[in-house]
Amino acid sequence: MLFQNALIENAGKAVDIRVSEGKFQEIAENIAPLPGEEIIDLHNRLVLPPFIESHVHLDTCLTAGDPVWNMSGTLFEGIECWSKRKDKLSREDIRERVHRVARMYAANGVQFIRTHVDVTDPSLTAMETMAELREELRDVMDIQIVAFPQEGILSYPNGKQLMRDAVKLGADCVGAIPHFEFTREYSVESLNFVMELAAENDLLVDVHCDEIDDEASRGLETLAARALEMQMFDRVTASHTTAMHSYNNAYVLRLMRLLKMSGINFVSNPLVNTHLQGRVDTYPKRRGITRVKELTEEGINVSFGHDDIFDPWYPMGNGNLRDVVFMGLHVCQMMGYEDIMNSYRFVTTKAARTLHLGEGYGIAPGRPASFVVMDAKNYYEALNYNAPVLASYKAGRKIAQSSPVERRALF
Ligand code: FE2
Repeated sequence: MLFQNALIENAGKAVDIRVSEGKFQEIAENIAPLPGEEIIDLHNRLVLPPFIESHVHLDTCLTAGDPVWNMSGTLFEGIECWSKRKDKLSREDIRERVHRVARMYAANGVQFIRTHVDVTDPSLTAMETMAELREELRDVMDIQIVAFPQEGILSYPNGKQLMRDAVKLGADCVGAIPHFEFTREYSVESLNFVMELAAENDLLVDVHCDEIDDEASRGLETLAARALEMQMFDRVTASHTTAMHSYNNAYVLRLMRLLKMSGINFVSNPLVNTHLQGRVDTYPKRRGITRVKELTEEGINVSFGHDDIFDPWYPMGNGNLRDVVFMGLHVCQMMGYEDIMNSYRFVTTKAARTLHLGEGYGIAPGRPASFVVMDAKNYYEALNYNAPVLASYKAGRKIAQSSPVERRALF
């Protein structure tokens, strides 16, 4: 198969891409077609590596309003709504919703998902079901599962054992929620526990870290210190870190040195945290977002995620990471020309580093021929005009397509 006239990652000059046996074979200008080769002219459209959802909770997705809507929009009412919905949680229910949301993601060019799955449930139903779904969807969606202790590890009955059991069920990553543990001591112990668990089982780590507006919430320094001492570096990810927004600058200056030495990744969730954080403030109200701009400027890897899709905590979300990037650029004040042009990296190459996709990702000869074609010349245009993903190819096979969108004034 020969794709002609592709503008790869905002390149100014079009190239052709030859794909065979599921891999990129050749990328160059004016490749001569082979006899009988299928030719697809992309007409100078943007080609990107596939989009990556680096942080979502698939086990709760698509449940907003069922059985009740979150009328205040707060985290606490969200928890109440979810406790009513939890009664209906079953394998079939999870399977049906995950299949539906996977198709929504696929239609928007997403091919990789890291999902957190609540393991503070003695039956581990969601964890077991998600492990099955990961296998079932493998041809169309690569799913990484984080064993996520929503209600804590030390602060939940049998929390450590549930984490160990989730690892046996096939978790790819282990998580923690230090800011939710009863005490600071529990918080530190929970982080030590998951780092050991990950090291013993050769797993990645992704912690819901300091997702609170409390400037005293400092799980991050412990996580980064362990990542450095245990030499786990970029196998470790700190998600959310919204408390960093409220840390004093003198502390951040000191912390930044450790963060750089530790090599850990960050995931920020601009839609959900803008919506949920700052709720105890009157005015001025803090933005619920970590210091993406400063971390990025220091060369630290940060990606963006949805976090929630149409559930009790976030009443919107449609699997289109464009909205995540759009909000992220606004709230992080990263609207310079280069910032906008390169912002696709928050949901592609930067997320790939977090997920440790390595050679399995990226547009280069020898790698799986996975890419998306957007109805735009570059990402600035794609972002501004909310361009559709016209085609999504995974290992050479088309798994989703859309039509160009026409919005026309009649004068
Ligand atoms: Fe989350």
